[in-house]
Amino acid sequence: MAEYASLGDVAGKRVLVRSDLNVPLDGARITDDGRIRASVPTIRELSEAGARVVVMAHLGRPKGEPDPAYSLRPVAARLGELLGTEVAFADDTVGESARAVVSGLQDGQVAVLENVRFDAGETSKDDDERAAFADRLAELGDAFVSDGFGVVHRKQASVYDVAQRLPHAMGGLVRTETEVLRRLTQSPERPYVVVLGGSKVSDKLAVIDNLLGKADTLLIGGGMVFTFLAAQGHGVGQSLLEKDQVDTCRAYLERSAESGVEIVLPTDVVVAPEFKADAEPTVVPVAEIPSDQIGLDIGPDSATAFAEIVRGARTVFWNGPMGVFEFDSFAAGTRVVAEALTEVDGLSVVGGGDSAAAVRQLGVPESGFGHISTGGGASLEYLEGKELPGLTVLED
Ligand code: 3PG
Repeated sequence: MAEYASLGDVAGKRVLVRSDLNVPLDGARITDDGRIRASVPTIRELSEAGARVVVMAHLGRPKGEPDPAYSLRPVAARLGELLGTEVAFADDTVGESARAVVSGLQDGQVAVLENVRFDAGETSKDDDERAAFADRLAELGDAFVSDGFGVVHRKQASVYDVAQRLPHAMGGLVRTETEVLRRLTQSPERPYVVVLGGSKVSDKLAVIDNLLGKADTLLIGGGMVFTFLAAQGHGVGQSLLEKDQVDTCRAYLERSAESGVEIVLPTDVVVAPEFKADAEPTVVPVAEIPSDQIGLDIGPDSATAFAEIVRGARTVFWNGPMGVFEFDSFAAGTRVVAEALTEVDGLSVVGGGDSAAAVRQLGVPESGFGHISTGGGASLEYLEGKELPGLTVLED
C-alpha cells in the first residue's frame, strides 16, 4: 500500500477510484476485456486494505444523458468475475441509487457507478458545470485514486475536478504506464523505431512532429499511409485520403530527409474492390493502386521490411494497426509487425486502443511485449510532450 501512503489508512474509508473500463462491446458482449483486467490490481489492493471501493468509469461517448447502449452494467459484472467477488452496481452516477449503494458498502467491498458520461457535467467544457458534478461525485468518497490511464489526457470531472476536492493518489496502473512512457521520451535506447498506423493521419500529426526530433525511424502503415503516398505523387484509388493533409505529409517527408530521421512507407499494399471481410484481396506495388480499389493492408514485402527494422531496434513504440486486422484477409501486415515486436531485444511498447485489441484478437502472446498500454490517445499525447491534466492535477 506504499503507493497510497498519502491517503493514510484506507480501511473503512470510501475510496473513489477512476478506472478506464472503456472496452469494446458487441451488444452486451465484451469483445476485449484488457482494460478491465488492467484495472483489477489497484481495486483489489484497496479492497484488501479494507477500503470501500467506489469505481467511476465511462463507456463510449454517450451524449450527457442515460443511454442503455452505454451502460456499465456488463462491465461491472465482468469486473466482479475477475475480482472473484460480488460487485455492487449503481443505476445512476450521483443519484439515489449511487448514494444507497455506496452507503451499503462494507469494508473491502466494491461498487461501480453507472457511466459518468451519462451526466453532461462529466465532459463539460464549462468549469462550473463540471464542478457541480464533481462536487456530487466527491460526496461519495473520502479519498480519490486516479487509475484510469486512458483518460488522464481528459480534463473531465471524474478525472480532474474530483482530484481537486479529495485527498488523492496515483493508482498503480497510471504509475506503471507513465514510468514506461517516460523511458521513451527521456532516454530511449537506440535504434528507436516508432510504428504508426490507424486510419487518420490528422490524429497523429502532433506525435509525428515531435518524433521527427526523437526517433531514428518512423514506419508508417494503416489507412493514414495513403495520404503520405499521395504526397509522394501516387494515385491511391478509393483508399482513405485526407486531402487537406497531403501538404503536411509532404513537409514531413522533406523534413525527414533533412533531419536524418527516416520515414519508411510501404512499397506494396493489399487492395480490394470493397471494404468487406470477403472482398477479393490483391497485392500491388504502391505505384500501381487501381483507381477503383481500396487499400486495406500493407503488402507482404512491406511487412517483411517493417518487421526487419523492428527486430533490429532496441526501443519500439507501436500505435495503430497496419491494416483492417478485423478482416482475416487484411490482418497479415498487423500480425507480422506485432510478432516482430515480440522479438525485440529491448523495450517494446504497444500504445493502447486498437493496437492492444489487435494483439489480443490476433492471438499474439501478450507476454512477448515489454508493455501494452491501456491508453491510446493518452499515450500519444504523453509522447507528444503535452501536459496531461489528469496527471498534473495529482501533483498538488
Ligand atoms: C480511450 O478509449 O482511449 C479512453 O477510454 C478515452 O476515451 P475517449 O477518447 O472517449 O475520451
